[in-house]
Amino acid sequence: GSTVRYEAENAAISQGVVEANHAGYSGTGFVNYDSVAGSRVQWTVTAPAAGTATLRLRYANGTTANRPMDITVNGTLVADELAFAGTGAWATWQTRTLTVTLPAGTSTIRAAATTAIGGPNVDYLEV
Ligand code: GCU
Repeated sequence: GSTVRYEAENAAISQGVVEANHAGYSGTGFVNYDSVAGSRVQWTVTAPAAGTATLRLRYANGTTANRPMDITVNGTLVADELAFAGTGAWATWQTRTLTVTLPAGTSTIRAAATTAIGGPNVDYLEV
């Protein structure tokens, strides 16, 4: 199927702020997660039919420390403390891919930081 991009800056953000001070982002900016466990971005996505879907999360982490996040789909944990390793610079963006099962119609996909360091900077989710 076709890929749809959902910008993080247009998603539901809890304990994070939209910023645009590091180049290379898509859309109008990215989300800078607060440095707290539980800071999160939640997207509402639509799948035309039930089945497997590829999620692509684009992020930057200008530190050398992993910034793990729990990924949930409709409240179910699908990736436990998924690693978001350093990308070398805040303006260097990489994509993390995972395969999930989605029902037909609307789903919520959440990426929540699991440590007090918070999440990486997140640019978008593609489904
Ligand atoms: C820097 C950087 C931010 C980043 C933050 C962090 O302040 O400019 O974009 O989010 O570090 O460590 O989370």
